[in-house]
Amino acid sequence: MRDNIHPIFDKLLGRKEKENFLNQKSKVLWFTGLSGSGKSTIAEALEKKLFSQGIFTQVLDGDNIRTGICNNLSFTLEDRHENIRRIAEVSKLFCNAGIVCLNSFVSPTKDIRRMAQSIIGEENFLEIYVNTPLHICEARDVKGLYKKARAGEIKNFTGIDSPFEAPESPSLELKTENKSIEECVEECIQFLLPLIQN
Ligand code: ADX
Repeated sequence: MRDNIHPIFDKLLGRKEKENFLNQKSKVLWFTGLSGSGKSTIAEALEKKLFSQGIFTQVLDGDNIRTGICNNLSFTLEDRHENIRRIAEVSKLFCNAGIVCLNSFVSPTKDIRRMAQSIIGEENFLEIYVNTPLHICEARDVKGLYKKARAGEIKNFTGIDSPFEAPESPSLELKTENKSIEECVEECIQFLLPLIQN
């Protein structure tokens, strides 16, 4: 008897029902780019804007992931893989709960992003390349990490002594040079809204 009930229960609480409950379609926006390129700033501003339009979201970035579920991982390529694998699995759960996920991670290689996409599912995964040239990220150096990397105090720093492979055909490319945060957010909104409206 129980065996017969469970599948029905699962069906009743499927992704579709949750999307309908939230009156939206879920997606995972995957912001990739150098450290200091503006990924998290854009994702956070985008979240506020979406929220004001009734879209329910979750931001994932280094602050809530690398201090928690991934706090045992370093920045070797191997650990970055594991970092992104866990994040992708978590995002998949959010996505199945009908929530629009805004992820901002360096995710520096094509291989790493391909893995994220295959875990999350091609139809759910939107790659957004936050294209800010290295010299600008380095000049800003918001966290002082580029200076330390140049001085050799941090090893495997993306863009300095660890690679960043730019996406070849992202869903959206934000060339942030000479653009305000608001302009970048507006580009995201124009691109995203048709895809998440129920
Ligand atoms: S990822 O490569 O595994 O995707 P993630 O996005 O989680 O990286 O973390 C990147 C952030 O960690 C950077 O924005 C920066 O603040 C910090 N960081 C510390 N060490 C490094 C490093 N070696 N390379 C890149 N970012 C680093």
